[in-house]
Amino acid sequence: MALSKRDIFLNNIGQTSTYPLALEVDYAEGIFIYDVHGKQYFDLNSGISVSSLGHRHPQVIEAIKNQLDKHLHTMVYGEHIQGPQVAYADLLTSQLDDSLNCIYFLNSGSEVLEVAMKLAKRATGRFEIVSCSNAYHGSTQGAETLRSDHSYSRAFLPLIPGIKHIEFNNVEDLKKITCRTAAVILEPVQAEAGINVPKNDYLRKVEKRCKETKTLFVLDEIQTGFGRTGKMFAHQKYDVIPDLLCIGKAMGGGMPIGGLVGDKKLINLFTKKPDLGHITTFGGHPVMCAAAYASLKTLIDESIVESVLEKEAFILKKLSHPIIKEIRSSGLMMAVELTKRKYLKHVVNHSFNNGALIDYFLFNNRSFRLAPPLIYTMKELDEACDILLSALDFANDKYR
Ligand SMILES: Cc1ncc(COP(=O)(O)O)c(C=O)c1O
Repeated sequence: MALSKRDIFLNNIGQTSTYPLALEVDYAEGIFIYDVHGKQYFDLNSGISVSSLGHRHPQVIEAIKNQLDKHLHTMVYGEHIQGPQVAYADLLTSQLDDSLNCIYFLNSGSEVLEVAMKLAKRATGRFEIVSCSNAYHGSTQGAETLRSDHSYSRAFLPLIPGIKHIEFNNVEDLKKITCRTAAVILEPVQAEAGINVPKNDYLRKVEKRCKETKTLFVLDEIQTGFGRTGKMFAHQKYDVIPDLLCIGKAMGGGMPIGGLVGDKKLINLFTKKPDLGHITTFGGHPVMCAAAYASLKTLIDESIVESVLEKEAFILKKLSHPIIKEIRSSGLMMAVELTKRKYLKHVVNHSFNNGALIDYFLFNNRSFRLAPPLIYTMKELDEACDILLSALDFANDKYR
């Protein structure tokens, strides 16, 4: 008998956990994902902050199709002048401070962090890198080293030497950034920690300390970028300018692409001592760049980012429930913390059964994640929140 897709998925595709959600996707459109049985799910995760424009946004699909008719890969990154890369670089940099004028295209978030670390060493001649505890910057060896929680990385030691961790929002800890530090790498809003928002001008204090010590200030905006926090980029919301900006996830409108953005003089250090200091075959793939361009253009033209804070306020008001302890948020990047840990899986499972996809965080076992596509209407948010409220009731009743 032929094996089911589920069997092949479990047996022949590498797994990341023993408890995959295993939702069998048929198609996805706008804010909804549909399974093979025709069941509709409100997507409240955006595939972890990716589908900010929803699924299959028409402009993104059209751009991909047009590019398919022109060319795919023609040469490794950095050699040929390709229209979609050029258009994207021009549009992206128009949204950023003048000092963020050059993008190095890559394929994924982790890779962007790897390249940021390499560049920081090359630019400063130092090798020490400071990152924050409870940060997640990716799973490749360098990015993995930035993670403080050794229960994840112990099996892969030794990783990269010279990494120090500081606590996010702890100003005293900034003393650990010294003239030996090549770069400080942090998320402007810590995502996997369960949405840890910067307090008391923390990011400005980090920026100042970096200036004092001539350390590169690197912001990982892979989750916070492209409108998620209510500004195009979170550093604009929190009024700082990084030396290097890491972008990915929502950048491609559902396609895999990432980028390291900085000043041309800094990025172009890869051209000498040694030349070809970093190279990639597929970085800046024309189809991904075409999708990224359409995605960013749509965010701008349709003023989507402008509606984010209103939607955040709506959810904060609507999600009032006795088992909610607090909601931490920055725009549509939210953590709903429950009064007791034991409620969490019931809320997630019940929401799933009733057609709403929410998710866990890596480093917070009391909160669930809400990161809906930015294009939800208020009516849709209202309906989705009703499913969450009934899941909260269900969890509450379970232990009464
Ligand atoms: C803040 C942040 N940085 C980096 C990454 C790694 O990105 P990728 O999974 O595309 O390698 C992630 C992924 O979740 C992330 O959330």
